[in-house]
Amino acid sequence: MALSVADRDRLNRHLEQLAEYRETELGYPVAFDIDFKPLLPYLGYSLNNVGDPFLDAHYRINSREFEREVLQFFAELSHAPKDGWWGYVTNGGTEGNLYAMYLAREMFPNGIVYFSRDSHYSVAKNLHFLGMRNIMIRSQPNGEMDYDDLRETVRIRRDAPPIIFANIGTTMTEGRDDIRLIQSILDEMAIEKRYIHSDAALCGGYAAFLDPPPAWDFADGADSIAISGHKFFAMPIPCGIVLARKRFVDRVGQSVAYIGTRDTTISGSRNGFTVMGLWYAIRSFGMEGMKQRLNKAMALADYAEERFREAGIDAKRNKGALTVVFPTPVEAVCDKWQLATAGEISHIVCMPHLRREQIDALLEDILASERDSPGMQP
Ligand SMILES: Cc1ncc(COP(=O)(O)O)c(C=O)c1O
Repeated sequence: MALSVADRDRLNRHLEQLAEYRETELGYPVAFDIDFKPLLPYLGYSLNNVGDPFLDAHYRINSREFEREVLQFFAELSHAPKDGWWGYVTNGGTEGNLYAMYLAREMFPNGIVYFSRDSHYSVAKNLHFLGMRNIMIRSQPNGEMDYDDLRETVRIRRDAPPIIFANIGTTMTEGRDDIRLIQSILDEMAIEKRYIHSDAALCGGYAAFLDPPPAWDFADGADSIAISGHKFFAMPIPCGIVLARKRFVDRVGQSVAYIGTRDTTISGSRNGFTVMGLWYAIRSFGMEGMKQRLNKAMALADYAEERFREAGIDAKRNKGALTVVFPTPVEAVCDKWQLATAGEISHIVCMPHLRREQIDALLEDILASERDSPGMQP
């Protein structure tokens, strides 16, 4: 069987369209600078890492060995306690966050989850799935949690263990909640039963390379961390990494005869190809190469912020962030450049593959639209 000529043409046209869209994609935190084509032969295999990556399974067509190395890399990056962590490669940040909240619920069934207003939209949905009590905390203008509101809200419910859902890079402004500060707030109140999760969907890919690094990892007091693999690590298929302190995970898994391993993950069948991609990115670049990618992206974010400001646009950026926030331009500009928008603000995320010309062209479009309709709101 073969595709018809019409279908082949359609596929080709779609590819051309994607290449065009890739040039004008500035709004989302995905990177396109790593060439994964050397892994194409792996598509000839149905790689499935079903079950626990640290145990063998009956199904041999897998990449578990590579998965363990990927996890080890992220465990080192996030200062996970030696021999005291566990993790797996997920389908993305959302699954990692869901898994972390599941662990927290099993540990503290009467706990209350505190998460800020700037958290990703999937957080409330995950908590609804899990039926967990939760309270939304106010945010500061830069997207970071309002710690006074957290303190006051937890203080009046001290009988219920707090489960803090911290953002290490909010979706719109890349605001980072300070896990060390959160720990000290809970210490002040002598709260011992607690759980802190670090949603590091974007920043987990590079937080460790920042100088100084934000307070985001296990050494700072996180009990679990979720990272997206298709963001800074450029994997062209959505995926992610979740890591947690082992003592929380030991409470969940159970042995399943059918797969011949322990079922400690959310999904049953798990993508073994994305594992190969993450491994390939890590091995090709190493820590040094990843740092260089970050420096390149950071230099572009400096450039974008400066150019926007010089042009009279009120651009803002958190310290050490790749996200540049500015007032939402007219719809045609947002649409063309695929800008992520939340009401009055839009942003671009300066990922390592982006070039100055793309920033200049976006800026030119914004300025042209303002010249065409001076004073017009979008
Ligand atoms: C802060 C934050 N958390 C979670 C997610 C969800 O990650 P994923 O798209 O990998 O499921 C995102 C995605 O943008 C995010 O920005």
